[in-house]
Amino acid sequence: MSKCKREHEFLSLTRELLDSDQVRMMGRWRHHGPVTTLDHSLFVAFSSYRLARFLGLDTRAAARGGLLHDLYLYDSRDKSAHPGNQCFDHPRAAARNAAALTNLSDKERNIILSHMWPLGGALPRSREAWLVDLVDTVCAALELVRICRPSRLRERLGVRPLAASPA
Ligand SMILES: [Fe+2]
Ligand SMILES: [Fe+2]
Repeated sequence: MSKCKREHEFLSLTRELLDSDQVRMMGRWRHHGPVTTLDHSLFVAFSSYRLARFLGLDTRAAARGGLLHDLYLYDSRDKSAHPGNQCFDHPRAAARNAAALTNLSDKERNIILSHMWPLGGALPRSREAWLVDLVDTVCAALELVRICRPSRLRERLGVRPLAASPA
């Protein structure tokens, strides 16, 4: 499959989410170093989609679960924005926001809730959940050592972050 066709298929699986304010809003906050939560989530979603396709797994669940796995929607550096422990609590916040945004399948919900395993959260219950868990770890490491620029993927896919409203 050509790069163009791959990107087109990924966009068709995630279009409803990419058009939403909630997903585009993730571009407001930095997640790993200079990488925003939106760019990280797109990197995880697209990489998970590609691997799921290669392995013959559920590409829709991998793409959508990957895109929504960090949909906690606050600045993780702002301690007043989240009272508990970010590492353990953010998968539950992301699952709540994702369920309010879209008709989430049980598999997609478990992908979100288990993406921090074994540090916290639920046990992955599908091959797609194990895949997103692994891809998230690898993407985070690549972002932290700054050997990739996920913002390029976002630009190529034509996803525009939602600007913060003026105070
Ligand atoms: Fe996360
Ligand atoms: Fe993540």
